[in-house]
Amino acid sequence: MGKTIKVDKVSAGYRKLHVLFDASCSMNDGEITVLVGPNGSGKSTLLKTIMGITDLYSGGVFYDGTKINGLPTHEITKLGIAYLPQVNSTFSNLTVRENLVMAGYVLGKEEADERVRKALEDFPVLKGYASRKAATLSGGERQMLAMAMALTRKPKVMLFDEPTASLSPKVALEVLGEIRALKEERGMTIVLAEQNARRALEMGDRAILLVGGKVAYEGSSKELLEHKELGRVYLGIGQG
Ligand SMILES: Nc1ncnc2c1ncn2[C@@H]1O[C@H](COP(=O)(O)OP(=O)(O)OP(=O)(O)O)[C@@H](O)[C@H]1O
Ligand SMILES: [Mg+2]
Repeated sequence: MGKTIKVDKVSAGYRKLHVLFDASCSMNDGEITVLVGPNGSGKSTLLKTIMGITDLYSGGVFYDGTKINGLPTHEITKLGIAYLPQVNSTFSNLTVRENLVMAGYVLGKEEADERVRKALEDFPVLKGYASRKAATLSGGERQMLAMAMALTRKPKVMLFDEPTASLSPKVALEVLGEIRALKEERGMTIVLAEQNARRALEMGDRAILLVGGKVAYEGSSKELLEHKELGRVYLGIGQG
C-alpha cells in the first residue's frame, strides 16, 4: 500500500537562494529510493520540497498523479506522506507515551490510544520506556520513537533524512533494518537520504544522485553502487 511520488522539473530553494535546478525524479510504490550526494547538494531540500516547506519556483510535485505542490504541509501529511527531518523531531521533555499521543493529534482519543499501544508493540525497545522522557533515550531509541510517532498517522510514504546520522554502526544497522521492514512488511514507499552511501545503496531498490542541485543519476541502486566514476567521484565508494 505504498504510493508513488513524482518530482517534475522542479526548481526550488529558499527565497533568493536557488538550490534545486530543473530536478526530475520519481520514488516508486513499495520501493526504497536512496537519495545520495555530497553535502549541500540539495538532498534535504528535495525532501522538504515534497513536504511543501521550501519555495518552489517552477515545476511540480505529484502524489499518485495528483499535484500536491501548493498544498499546506499538514494537508500533504494527511494525504499519507510522513517526513522525518534531519534534526531530532521528538519532544525531549515529554515521555515516550506522551510523544506518541502528541503524534496522533489528528485522531480521536480512542484511536490514538490504540495506535500508541500498537507503536509500543512494533518497537519493543520502547515498550519498557513508555514513561521515560525522550531526552533520556539513546540516539537509536530516539530515532525509533520518531519512526513510531510518524507511523501513528498510518502514512503510505515515509521520507527519512539521514536517520542514522551520529549513530554507532551497530545501532545504525538496527535502524536501517526497521526501515527495510516498513517496506517488506507494510509495502510502504520509502525515501532515504543517507550520508553512508554504500550501506544505504546496498539495501535500496533505486537511487537518485544529486550534485549541485541537479539529478546526476537516477536508476538502480546496485548500478550506482557499482558505477566506477559516479561512485568514486561523489560518494567515496569503489576506491578500496
Ligand atoms: N532553511 C534554509 N535557508 C536557507 N538556505 C538553506 C536552508 N536549508 C538549506 N539551505 C542551503 O541549501 C543548500 C542545500 O542544502 P541541503 O540541506 O538541501 O543539502 P544536503 O544535500 O541535505 O546536505 P547535507 O548532506 O549536509 O545534509 C545549502 O547551500 C544550504 O546552506
Ligand atoms: Mg541534508
